[in-house]
Amino acid sequence: MYDMKPRTPEGSGVTQQAESGPEIMERSRNIELVALLEVSKALSSTTPIERRLFAAVRILAEYLDLQRGTITLRDMRTGELNIAAAYGLSRTEIARGKYKIGEGIIGKVVRSGSPIVIPNVDEEPLFLNRTESRNGITKQDISFLCVPIKDKGDILGVLSVDRIFGSRVTYEEDLRVMKLVAQLIAQTLRLERLLDQEREEKEELRQQLKDKYRLGTLIGSSKGMQDVFRMVHKVAPSRTTVLLRGESGTGKELIARAIYSLSERSAKPFVKINCAAVPGTLLESEFFGHEKGAFTGAIATRRGKFEEADGGTVFLDEIGDLELSLQAKLLRVLQEREFERVGGNRTIRVDVRLIAATNRNLEDAIREGTFREDLYYRLNVVPVFLPPLRERFEDIPLLIDHFLDRFNRENERKVVLQKDAVGTLTRYTWPGNVRELENAIENTVVLAETDKIRSTDLPAHILSGPQQPADGLKGSVEQLEKDRIRDALAANAWIYARAARALGLTERQLVYRVKKYGLSRE
Ligand SMILES: Nc1ncnc2c1ncn2[C@@H]1O[C@H](COP(=O)(O)OP(=O)(O)OP(=O)(O)O)[C@@H](O)[C@H]1O
Ligand SMILES: [Mg+2]
Repeated sequence: MYDMKPRTPEGSGVTQQAESGPEIMERSRNIELVALLEVSKALSSTTPIERRLFAAVRILAEYLDLQRGTITLRDMRTGELNIAAAYGLSRTEIARGKYKIGEGIIGKVVRSGSPIVIPNVDEEPLFLNRTESRNGITKQDISFLCVPIKDKGDILGVLSVDRIFGSRVTYEEDLRVMKLVAQLIAQTLRLERLLDQEREEKEELRQQLKDKYRLGTLIGSSKGMQDVFRMVHKVAPSRTTVLLRGESGTGKELIARAIYSLSERSAKPFVKINCAAVPGTLLESEFFGHEKGAFTGAIATRRGKFEEADGGTVFLDEIGDLELSLQAKLLRVLQEREFERVGGNRTIRVDVRLIAATNRNLEDAIREGTFREDLYYRLNVVPVFLPPLRERFEDIPLLIDHFLDRFNRENERKVVLQKDAVGTLTRYTWPGNVRELENAIENTVVLAETDKIRSTDLPAHILSGPQQPADGLKGSVEQLEKDRIRDALAANAWIYARAARALGLTERQLVYRVKKYGLSRE
């Protein structure tokens, strides 16, 4: 075996001396030049790197009349050597071709950084023949040439070829061409690694941005939502009462859950009570529990939600709808942290953190006498206002992506929205806010007949619905909402349940708005 540094194959005496008349030399020089040109073209194409490397060895082997050509690359993390491209080897032969640095000849080239020539494979004990590709043919016919692929002192891998014994070219010439090709390969790999690095950095940045625009399952890049997120992070750790305000479907419940999960109470219960869903007396028992026999049907003692939540968080949803008698009792819980069960006289003390939410205008309710002012001040310690979607249209594309991802996954679809469709959704005024957008995307994904959704494929009520004027005149928004609700009711024969669904509102919310805008069937 011959290391190129200490001695050349020619000097070794074992090497076959090639026949070298001047014309033959001239011809092979030309072939070499063409081969190099072709290799460099192949390496700089835009196909995937594996394809380019394969093309390079194929061209090299074909032009120089070699039996086999292999590029073995070093895995920079594990140090393992793997065949990256091979010409004249089958897939299984390639799979077998794994070497550790220092193992066999390829390993030796990697370690020493110098070329090696094995004039006769048969006489070389270091020759591992890992790929077993040379079995069956007489080994003594083959010489094996390896050059390192170096990038500024870093050994990236090895370029190796098989040549039939006794060809007319000297090893020196072969090695010269191989070194040039190895240089081209090294340049290509360096560029590829730089590009990879750049891609990784970009992906990392994208991920960081994504995290910034996220809070739990909430999405929001707009200034309004970023302010909300900041506020949530600020108030979450303490026991402060938080009052969430915002129109229906703006994410109040999600924010309540986010505050809870960021709090020190996240291991304790989160108990939601809907103040509007249950009639008064039952609600009191739901809040505070009851003793056996407290009222008809109270066949056993029951703990209320405040007791269940002890140590944790109570989320009072639709607090604006709480009736006055219960408002007084809630006030006491807020002030004294104590209450009695319905029909009981034992005072129960609890430690709960309160988060309340409403889409009502509580200030109006106070003026109208339906909401206690003292309770209002107790609740309004830290108010957090969730902006309506029409005032933060920059969130819409992000939300669309988020919901598309989810509903595509759930429905095993690959629906994408074309630009014009995103435009239409961004200009729409969304009276039902994010919930309505969520429903619209779900509808679109489920009903889509093609994967590429254009504006005209969107739900009809959005297409015909009011679109935000380009410069967003705030004052007209209520008018738009009113029109939109009237249209939805007309389109659904004034069946509230259906119109509400189309709008992404609950029936109750729709009724509230019909009253607010004084809409009637005529
Ligand atoms: N910023 C957001 N990012 C992702 N999803 C959101 C966001 N805001 C709201 N949603 C989705 O919209 C829907 C409505 O949210 P949520 O129930 O929190 O609204 P709400 O303000 O409590 O409404 P309501 O007053 O009608 O109870 C939910 O399904 C939620 O997943
Ligand atoms: Mg809610």
